[in-house]
Amino acid sequence: MSRVRSGPRSGFVSAMTTRLPSTGAPERVAAAPSTTCRSDEVVVIHRLFRRLFAEAPSLVRGVAPDDTAHARRVAKHLHAVIALLHVHHRTEDEFFWDVMTDRAPACGLHVELMRRQHGAVSDRLDVADALVDRWAYRADARTAVRIATALEEIDRMLVEHLVDEEREAFPVLDAILSDAEWDHIHKHAQRHKPPMPIFVLLGLMIDSVPEADRAAWIANELPAPIRFAYRTVGRRQYERAIGRIRSNDRGALGGAGAAGLEPAMA
Ligand SMILES: [Fe+2]
Repeated sequence: MSRVRSGPRSGFVSAMTTRLPSTGAPERVAAAPSTTCRSDEVVVIHRLFRRLFAEAPSLVRGVAPDDTAHARRVAKHLHAVIALLHVHHRTEDEFFWDVMTDRAPACGLHVELMRRQHGAVSDRLDVADALVDRWAYRADARTAVRIATALEEIDRMLVEHLVDEEREAFPVLDAILSDAEWDHIHKHAQRHKPPMPIFVLLGLMIDSVPEADRAAWIANELPAPIRFAYRTVGRRQYERAIGRIRSNDRGALGGAGAAGLEPAMA
C-alpha cells in the first residue's frame, strides 16, 4: 500500500510521503476509502516505543546492586520514557476515540478495546514508575527484579496494543480525520515539553526508523537547520546520553548509531 499524501508538513514526525509498513501488525485492511496516510506519523512514534520498552528491562538488569549513581541515570531515563508514553496515549485518548465513535459508530468494539488497552498499560506504567522512584537511590537487586518484570509485562501489553491499534483503528482514522485535524493533533502534541532533551529524543527516533527508510525520513521530516544542529551538536549529545545509560549494558537496541547517518544528515 503506497499512497501519496497531499497535506502540509507539520513537524519532524509529520510528513511521510508513502505508507510505512506497520510495526508488527498484519497487512492493514482499509475500512473505508482513505484520503490520507497521516497515521504513518504515529507509526513512527510506535516504533520508538517498541524499541524503548524492549530495551528497558535490560537497562535495569545492567545496573549492579548498590551502584546508585548508575541507577539514578537509568531511573531518570525510565521516568522520561514512561512520561512519554503517558503523553502519547493521552493525546490519542483525547483526539481519536470520541471522533471514531461519532463518525464510525460500527467501530465501537475497537474503540472500547483501545480504551481498555490504554487504561491497562497506564496502570502498569504507574506501578513501574513508583518502583523506579524507590529503586533510584537504593539500587537494590530485589526492586530491580520487580521493575524489570513490570517492564517486560508492559512491553508485551504494548506490542499487542500497537498491533491492534495499527490494524483496527488507524485505517479508520485515516478515513475520517482531515489533514487539518491531523495538523491540529500534531500541534497539540508538540505543545508538551519533551521529558528528555530534544536531541536525545530525536536521536532515539532516528534510530527507530528502519535503516532502509532512514535517509528519506530525515530528508522529509527534519528541516535543514535541525539537520545541521543535530549533525554538529545534537548527535554528540544523544550518543553521550545514551552511552551513559547503557554503560553497564549494551542494551537490546544497538541501533545504527549516528555513524551511518552521515550522508543523510548532510
Ligand atoms: Fe495507542
